[in-house]
Formats: sequence, structure tokens, C-alpha cells
Amino acid sequence: MDKLVITGGRPLEGAVRISGAKNAALPAMAATLLAPGVHRLRNVPRLRDTQTFARVLELLGAKLSFEGNLLTIDTQGVNSVEAPYELVKTMRASIYVLAPLLARFGQARVSLPGGCAWGPRPVNLHLSGLQAMGAALEIESGYIVGRDVKLKGATIAFDVVSVGATVQLLMAAVLAEGTTVLENVALEPDVIALGEMLVASGARIAGLGTRRLTIHGVRALRPVDTEIIPDRIEAATFAAAAAMTGGNIRLEGVVPGHFEAPLGKLEEAGCVVQRSVDTVSVSGPPRPKAVNVVTQPFPGFPTDMQAQMIAVCAIAGGTSVVEDTIYLDRFTHVQELARMGARIELKGNVAVVTGVARLSGAQVMATDLRASASLVIAALAARGETVIDRIYHLDRGYETLEKKLGALGAEIRRVN
Ligand code: EPZ
Repeated sequence: MDKLVITGGRPLEGAVRISGAKNAALPAMAATLLAPGVHRLRNVPRLRDTQTFARVLELLGAKLSFEGNLLTIDTQGVNSVEAPYELVKTMRASIYVLAPLLARFGQARVSLPGGCAWGPRPVNLHLSGLQAMGAALEIESGYIVGRDVKLKGATIAFDVVSVGATVQLLMAAVLAEGTTVLENVALEPDVIALGEMLVASGARIAGLGTRRLTIHGVRALRPVDTEIIPDRIEAATFAAAAAMTGGNIRLEGVVPGHFEAPLGKLEEAGCVVQRSVDTVSVSGPPRPKAVNVVTQPFPGFPTDMQAQMIAVCAIAGGTSVVEDTIYLDRFTHVQELARMGARIELKGNVAVVTGVARLSGAQVMATDLRASASLVIAALAARGETVIDRIYHLDRGYETLEKKLGALGAEIRRVN
């Protein structure tokens, strides 16, 4: 199993091009099922998760080819409505095929996503929304099964702001009979990008960028040629690496407004941040200052940066309080950072981080995607060598990370 070996202590210097966003590519790939034909998705990151989703689409009968970061998807030959447990259990987002299959074929058999290390991650809002649109869904042997479904417009107000449920119901509504109103929707850039892709394929959606969407169903959509937005979480992770190492990094090919909350917190911690149309330069301070963070749905501070921010706070001058309101139990990185000498006290969904002058290299284990990113940036700042095990988690969401960090001067290598 691959590991990363990192020797810390070098300030990162230089420019890095940010890849396409995993969390925008996955819904875009699912949405190609809605319009039989050949779709071209540009700037798709080559990740374990996009490969897994490609596998799901192939099993449904689609034809896919990757050329660099251009993904061509031909959905004319789709002839199955089953997404198997073997794949869905490895990536929850596979559930995104549910609404497109119901919309196109009136039937679907999609495995329920399994458990998650961070406590309950239900999909009740996905299912109750589809049921409100007339889909009679059964749970049979761990599968969500829909038969003879004719989706109809409905008004759905989400109790909780959910990226996944917004994506699911948006895809259900574009081909539904009549008008759907979705209230309290997610505003994440990935959701807006999906809405824009669907409009480009002929959908009628009003209110994109607001918490209320009105979708007038249409009879058919056409294939699209679209560009995946840059990955704001990857960009913010590199910005945090500049803060941890006292480095100077220019992030290229980004949309600054997509990660303003983390940038604001890094400025509070003492970073100097310069924003231009599609680049952001971040200079880290000699030592970060303590900051308090509360995660929120976009445009608030993203939970997907919580772990990386805890790593920054672990070497800050003073005590920081980091609260995750989205996932109450997303703290598996805390024990691993403690192995590197971090002083973090967990109280429910709140981490109280007392900064130390320097972390020390150690053998640690990645437990999920963003937890592994926090270990990588902690290792870049630590004294001595760190070995990070189980980096398959990292490969799910960061494209050629060690190559990009190496180009910024990091002492990092992958071993197996
Ligand atoms: C998306 O997950 C992202 N994944 C996650 O990023 C991210 O952490 C999350 O949004 C929050 O920003 C993808 O885009 C593929 P949610 P998702 O539905 O859609 C509750 C990463 O690191 N909820 O917005 O699964 C839920 O329990 C990944 O790239 C319900 O109660 O998240 C959570 O507390 C990890 N019922 C809250 O809503 C539901 O039916 C937000 O979840 C759905 C969600």
C-alpha cells in the first residue's frame, strides 16, 4: 500500500495550477445520463473518485474515454438502471445516478451508501424529495428501487442545507412534468456549476445562486460541452500549506470568490493574500496566529477545510477553537496530529487547539480524504520525517499532489 514520506521544514515557493473540482465533476458526470448523446467534460481531475464514477457509468452502458483531463461520455447506449453496492460503498456520490435514471427510464436500482467514519450521513432528503415528486421508492436488500416512476413537479423545502440532495432533486426536476420549487438549497459553486450545465443542455432553471430554485420541466435535454470549475478545496489546501510552512505560493486557474471564507481565516492567522481574476497569492507568516472557526454551508467556512485548518492552528501562537456544525464527528485526524505533537482537546464537535512551536515527524495514518490532507501539510511544517500510510484516501480527491508539492520545493516522495 502506497505511503508518502515527507521531510518537513522547507517554505513552499512558486506557482501551482489548481485542478478541476472533484465535487463539481461528479454531478456533471451523473447529469450526462439525462441527455442521450456524446458529452465533453473538460478539466475533469484524474482521481480515484472520478475513475469510480466512470466505472459506474460504464456499468450502466455508457461509453467513456479520458484524454488528459478531457472526458468524453456517450450515454446513448445506456441500458441498465443498476448501480451496485461494490461501487457505491466506495463512493457515496454514486447515488447521483438515482434521479437521472428515474427521470430517463422511470426505474432505478441503486445501492444505499454504506456507513461513514464521521457518523450518520443519511440520504433521507434525497429520498423524501423524490417521493414528493411522485417516485414510489422501496428499499430492497440495501438497494433503493424505483419502478414505473413518472416524476412530477413539486415544492420541496429542505430542513438542512444539503449539497447532495440539492444536486439530486435538481436533476430530477429538469425533465419532470410541470414545475418544481426547491427551497433552502445549497449554494456551493459545484451546485451552481451543475445548474449552468443543465441550462446549457436546455433546462429551464430560475434562481441559480439563491436559496430558492424554480425548475420548469422540459421534454428533452441535449448533450453538452462544458468545463469543470477549479477545485476550491484543493486551492484552499495549498493556501493552508503556505501558512504552515511560511511559504509564498501563487494558485493559478482559480476563482477567488469560491474559497473566500478559508482565505479570510488565513489572513486572520497572519497570511498576506493577494487576489486577482484567476490567481491568488498567499504568503505565510513566520508563525500563524490562533483563529476561531465554525464550519457552515457555502459561503461559510467549508467543513472540507476543517482538518487542514486544525493543522494550521496546531502550530499557531495561542489557542484556537474549531467547531464543525456540518459533520459532528469529523475529527479522525486529531489523534494522528497528536502523534506529531499537536495539543488538541476534543469536546463533541468542537476542537480546542493549543498551538505548539513545532510539530515533529512521525508515522501516521490517513483515515479519510481531508484528514489525509491535514497530515500532509502538518508534515511539511514538522521537524524531521513523517510517513503517511493509507494515502489511497488522498488519491480520491487530490490530483498528483506530491508532484505539485515537489515542484514547490517540498521534500516528498511516494513509496509502496
Ligand atoms: C458534499 O457531501 C461533499 N461531497 C462533501 O465533500 C462535503 O463535505 C459536503 O457536501 C458538505 O459540504 C461531494 O460533493 C461529493 P451534504 P454531501 O448533503 O452531499 C445532512 C469531500 O471531502 N444530510 O451537503 O454528502 C448530512 O448528514 C466530501 O470532498 C441529511 O441529514 O453533504 C450533513 O450533516 C466529503 N440528509 C449535512 O446534511 C440528507 O439526505 C450536509 O450534507 C443529506 C444530508
